[in-house]
Amino acid sequence: MVENRLYGVIGQPVAHSLSPLMHNTAFAVTGFEAHFSAFAVTDLEAAVAGIRALGIAGVSVTLPHKTAVIKHLDWIDDEALAIGAVNTIVNRCGRLCGYNTDVSGAINALQSKIELSGRKVLILGAGGAARALVYGALKAGSSVAIGNRTADRGQALAEEFGACFLSRSEWDGFAPEILVNTTSLGMSPEVDKMPLPETFLTPEMVVMDIVYNPLRTRLLKAAKECGAQTIDGLTMFVGQGALQFELWTGKKAPFEVMRQTVLAELQRGERSSVGD
Ligand code: ATR
Repeated sequence: MVENRLYGVIGQPVAHSLSPLMHNTAFAVTGFEAHFSAFAVTDLEAAVAGIRALGIAGVSVTLPHKTAVIKHLDWIDDEALAIGAVNTIVNRCGRLCGYNTDVSGAINALQSKIELSGRKVLILGAGGAARALVYGALKAGSSVAIGNRTADRGQALAEEFGACFLSRSEWDGFAPEILVNTTSLGMSPEVDKMPLPETFLTPEMVVMDIVYNPLRTRLLKAAKECGAQTIDGLTMFVGQGALQFELWTGKKAPFEVMRQTVLAELQRGERSSVGD
């Protein structure tokens, strides 16, 4: 009998999620017999009971459930616990295990361009994505500063993880070698926005944007024009997805195929969601 292996993404909204396309393609090219669906979920508790009852093999968790899902699971990986967010569930013989692949997805993307140890990193934003980046960059040995519109929120994040918070007037003095935008500034339809002026950018910087709609945000365009190295949001999205694939299947993820598939879809039509 062929095992019926079902995977999916739970979140709200998920109608425009690129995860089904990315994972079904990865399953197909590696010969892994499984299917991946999108489930719009508002009642999280009932959804997790459904995962157990139906024996769903693995789940990607996206907004707004990444934190709330923790209390419904049987085991949580240390890194996911430290960040307070789970984006991946693995069903091991009925035990639901929670992981966070956003951290390594983002850090791997950065490390493909630059060694993080001893580097000065400025992270803009203080939401869920910023938490993963701050945690990961500190763990990799970077000196991390946080910049955020709402100072209280930025300060709280800095205190929680042992980073420092910088007000806008202090960013220049910090002179970061790596800049990461985790805010939604620059995302469609407000594509003309960027989180700081072009004059802040230098050719020596590595600039990463987690926004992937559009792929080339105004920040990344400006960074490229000034000679800086850039990392787009798609690299991080596919990075976290590739690590999910490896947790679920035990196989090496076909990263380039996944990236090309999602890229082609993004280029075909406008997408309205990020981060899943
Ligand atoms: P996520 O969990 O996806 O990271 P979030 O919790 O909504 O999303 O966080 C979004 C981040 O973008 C926040 O840091 C937010 O700043 P505030 O804490 O001041 O709200 C930032 N952000 C969103 N719109 C912004 C804008 N127009 N200018 C500056 N920062 C903005």
